[in-house]
Amino acid sequence: MKQSILNRLPPEHPWGQRVLTFDCIDSTNTRARELAKNGAPSGTVLIADRQTGGRGRLGRSFHSPGGVGVYLSVILRPRCRATELMHLTCAAAVAAWEAVENTCGLRCGIKWTNDLVYGTKKLGGILTELGLCPDGTVDYAIIGIGINCCHRREDFPEELQDMAASLSMVTGREVDRSLLAANLITALHTMDRTLLSGREEMMGLYRSHCITLGREISLVRADGAVRHGRALTVDPEGALVVQFPDGTVEAVSSG
Ligand code: BTN
Repeated sequence: MKQSILNRLPPEHPWGQRVLTFDCIDSTNTRARELAKNGAPSGTVLIADRQTGGRGRLGRSFHSPGGVGVYLSVILRPRCRATELMHLTCAAAVAAWEAVENTCGLRCGIKWTNDLVYGTKKLGGILTELGLCPDGTVDYAIIGIGINCCHRREDFPEELQDMAASLSMVTGREVDRSLLAANLITALHTMDRTLLSGREEMMGLYRSHCITLGREISLVRADGAVRHGRALTVDPEGALVVQFPDGTVEAVSSG
């Protein structure tokens, strides 16, 4: 797999020497964190054919069967405070959106915050994690992206079959997993170069791809409480700005 990914990257890509591939791993994010703690450089990319413990947001798991998905994490080392990286998940979602479009022409949607979707079906997700220095600056950031690429319906567990889809399923064509991995690397590298200086542009793109805006939404909190409202916009920090039936407006950062 490694060689076919490298063959699809532009020659001399700065991250080309830092691509690590695994046949099977628990989670590329977990391994990336171990490597980051041990000093791995920015631009170290981990790609697995299969994950046994793929992780999603809010403690959920991410189904990661072999031979059909792209499961990728990258270690970044932006020089800033954690408070300057509130838009990181949105920036990564825009990079993933671009990689999907460049790979198979599909212009998918982004469901706030971190899901790539097509209609009501989830195509993939993003999990970002930060490690901080004692002074509050960022030691490392890990961006993990999982995309359902070549799955057939029966490759998903029954409970996911009505909620998930793959790029092949929605385009009706075979999709080159190595090309998608290479395009993700290229898009994430571009994102990294403008992560702090290009925030406004990234957030503009995020809003234009975000299918949640303008919709009536249900916000489910971690304790199970549900609130209904209308999604107005996403603020510069990536929080969803919601108007509730009593007219109050609140920026919600998770849920
Ligand atoms: C979500 O759906 O909430 C986010 C899913 C993120 C999955 C990717 S796959 C590569 C990386 N390794 C993980 O364990 N998780 C991320």
